[in-house]
Amino acid sequence: METNNITVDLDLALRNAAGLRGKSDLFLLADSNSCNYCLPKVMQTFELEDSKILVLPAGEQHKTLQTVEKIWNFLIESHATRNSLLLILGGGVLTDMGGFAASTFKRGIPYVNIPTTLLAMVDAAQGGKTGFDYQGLKNEIGMFAPALKTIVYPMFLQTLPSEQLLSGYAEILKHALIASPLELIRVLNFDIDNIDYEQLAELIDRSIDIKQYIVEQDPEETGLRKSLNFGHTIGHAIEEYSLMNKEAKPMLHGYAVMYGMVGELYLSMVKLGLEQQTLTQVVHFMTEHYGKPVCPCKDYGQLLELMRHDKKNTEQGQINFSLLRQVGNCRVNQECTDQEILDALDFLFNI
Ligand code: GLY
Repeated sequence: METNNITVDLDLALRNAAGLRGKSDLFLLADSNSCNYCLPKVMQTFELEDSKILVLPAGEQHKTLQTVEKIWNFLIESHATRNSLLLILGGGVLTDMGGFAASTFKRGIPYVNIPTTLLAMVDAAQGGKTGFDYQGLKNEIGMFAPALKTIVYPMFLQTLPSEQLLSGYAEILKHALIASPLELIRVLNFDIDNIDYEQLAELIDRSIDIKQYIVEQDPEETGLRKSLNFGHTIGHAIEEYSLMNKEAKPMLHGYAVMYGMVGELYLSMVKLGLEQQTLTQVVHFMTEHYGKPVCPCKDYGQLLELMRHDKKNTEQGQINFSLLRQVGNCRVNQECTDQEILDALDFLFNI
């Protein structure tokens, strides 16, 4: 299966991408996961010297200004120029930070994303959002700066731990909820416990199409692209809350989005009359695969505070949501009262 989005020939895709700008001066970022299985595959095409490769630790806790500085320092010390090309081989944390570092280095050098996680393939590495977390807030500093190319090679997923697959699958589910009832049925019916990788590649391909269609119309998120934030107002707050708890294992982004979508489907039902069946189906999918989220009600206020700081809000103090009137019909800029949000949290944490 070779489509616009998916490649089965990584070698050819890499050569084409490097050739796009006549680049031979290549630099590569990898993360501590991608350097084991994925980097050797890239090295079959390009034999890069060690000095042109930087391996960074994986994980949201490393998505910081300090790590971005390491990338800038690496580019400076290894004599990258404005004619260089940065290949970014890793998960969404690395593609976000690497894209930002490349786009700001010497006022911007081109970069190519080679996502190695499902989440990065369908979402993070698509659509040009780059940046890093700052003062405990997700992606607080960043810019829109599209990759020269994003190479999606689904074979990388065969070594991905199942929780990472589930994390990415939440974004596939989000795209389906925004897109159409038919896509939702396909995504809910896919056997995620016994993966058929050809079928998964088809789902990935369609999921990328859904995102690309939206991003092409609204690249800088002034309207329609906000629909891609469905599940992310509550989801980001849950993720930030989990990152603040230093003893607990940080929650994977897609898990937080999964829980956020359930909270926001509840709000969609209350505010926009979404049919209950959709909420019931997604709750069932969540409990079967992602488990139930935990947060004591004494901490709901903290979650509300985090939502108030969300950069998606346009007016101070107001919390902005993208909600569904129906599957395939998303309404952006929906304001909810504190009480409505607290009710949604109560629903979510008492499933
Ligand atoms: N992850 C949502 C977006 O790219 O707009």
